Amino acid sequence: MEKYYAVIGNPIAHSKSPLIHAAFAEQLGLSIRYERLLAPLENFAGTVRQFQTDGGRGANVTVPFKEVACQLADTITARARLAGAVNTLVFSDLGIHADNTDGAGLIADIQVNLAYALKGRRVLIMGAGGASRGVIAPILAMQPAFLVIANRTLAKAQTLRAQFSPYGIVEAADYAALNGMQFDCVINATSASLAGESIAMPDGVFAQGSLAYDMMYASAPTAFMQYAQQQGSERVADGLGMLVEQAAVSFHLWHGVHPTTQPVISLLRNL
Ligand code: ATR
Repeated sequence: MEKYYAVIGNPIAHSKSPLIHAAFAEQLGLSIRYERLLAPLENFAGTVRQFQTDGGRGANVTVPFKEVACQLADTITARARLAGAVNTLVFSDLGIHADNTDGAGLIADIQVNLAYALKGRRVLIMGAGGASRGVIAPILAMQPAFLVIANRTLAKAQTLRAQFSPYGIVEAADYAALNGMQFDCVINATSASLAGESIAMPDGVFAQGSLAYDMMYASAPTAFMQYAQQQGSERVADGLGMLVEQAAVSFHLWHGVHPTTQPVISLLRNL
């Protein structure tokens, strides 16, 4: 029987994960079934249990269940615990093992696909919600010169700074406080792009040669990407590469092989 996997979320119809995992499986000659599963907002656990009963071997977890998924885990990796969120479940006789591959996906996209080393760089991450929390420790592990977490609501950035300061040099700011500062890498982890909104930030934060990275993926440049370009950022990227890379790490957890990601990124880009 084909091994059975799924991505569980609400809503879920838009998810590109089935396409990505099907492309990986084809590349490696594996036969898998990977479906979208819509879980009721109040019954994520029930959906996971049913999926296991139906023979599910592993699942990706997406919005809005990444945080609640931590509670289902019998074992959880340190990186998922730090992120406070889970995006990958592995089912076995030993129980439910939980991990979070989002940070690894972001780092692979920036450092490998975009060939931009974060070590020694001045890095800014905007946003202090779940998307930001999930990637802060992996960024700090790359040893940037420092990381500033900027958020409209300063208190949330300060909470993250307190949590992550054992892992590197990290500061908290509101957008006004960025006035006069410059960064080599600016990452947008807010949901502003999703809402089609722009972020009220001071001009001049993008250093010459800087990389601007929007964790959201879009068929057209987001407001953040357009702003970064106007501000002279030389490399501007959306989050499509991160999406494919986090899927590749999940794929490795389930199948023990790491797919080649570049053809799959191109495939999605050309859809
Ligand atoms: P996610 O899990 O995607 O991070 P979230 O936890 O709701 O979602 O967090 C959304 C983030 O986007 C927050 O950092 C939010 O800022 P506030 O904490 O101040 O609300 C940020 N955000 C959303 N819309 C924004 C906008 N128009 N400008 C700036 N920040 C915005």
